[in-house]
Amino acid sequence: MGKFITFEGGEGAGKSTQVELLKKRLLSEFGGEVLVTREPGGSELAEKIRDLILAKRPAASETEFLLFAAARVEHIAETIAPALKSGKWVICDRFFDSSRVYQGMLGGVCSQFIEMVERHTVRPYIPDLTIILDVPAELSMERARVRGALSRYDAATKQEHEVLRQGFLDIASREPQRCVVIDGSRNVEAVSKDVFEAVKSRILKGT
Ligand code: TYD
Repeated sequence: MGKFITFEGGEGAGKSTQVELLKKRLLSEFGGEVLVTREPGGSELAEKIRDLILAKRPAASETEFLLFAAARVEHIAETIAPALKSGKWVICDRFFDSSRVYQGMLGGVCSQFIEMVERHTVRPYIPDLTIILDVPAELSMERARVRGALSRYDAATKQEHEVLRQGFLDIASREPQRCVVIDGSRNVEAVSKDVFEAVKSRILKGT
């Protein structure tokens, strides 16, 4: 089995840049194959669900959650599981923690319901490592403003950014074996160095 790494964080945390840098680093230092993917999306049907989700935000957070969850099951079945089974590294930009935080903590979907759906859909494909890029709410807002074009699910107010940030930090403190929090407010190289150190110490130790 290959190793499964996910990146999480609020807006403007620098996930996509760090995903690409980690891919390059893994290829140059370890060889093998690296699959980069993202959510929502990552398989033919999941991309269609992505278009649907991003085109029109549902009226209820439960609908949102179930659509993200449906896209995720397809993504796992069609893309993630086969890649891991063939021994590839899989790096995914957002995964179930985003549902817990965006639909659960921000949207108010019942956490037991989320856990139950996770149990029946995501398992056994729990990431070997989840990298949470943490940035203060003000910086998230500033980076999102510079980037422009907010997605329909992006936090709008400072308070929402705080909820997202705290949500990811809470997950990391509840699941320290799986999660590592990295300060994403620093320059790209410093963050990338810490990301690679985390991969080495958490995943490659003993291999
Ligand atoms: P995207 O344009 O991919 O944004 P980002 O660069 O921030 O990842 O849009 C995805 C949006 O969907 C983003 O605002 C987070 C949200 N999202 C959820 O609300 N729940 C989820 O389970 C996932 C995977 C994403």
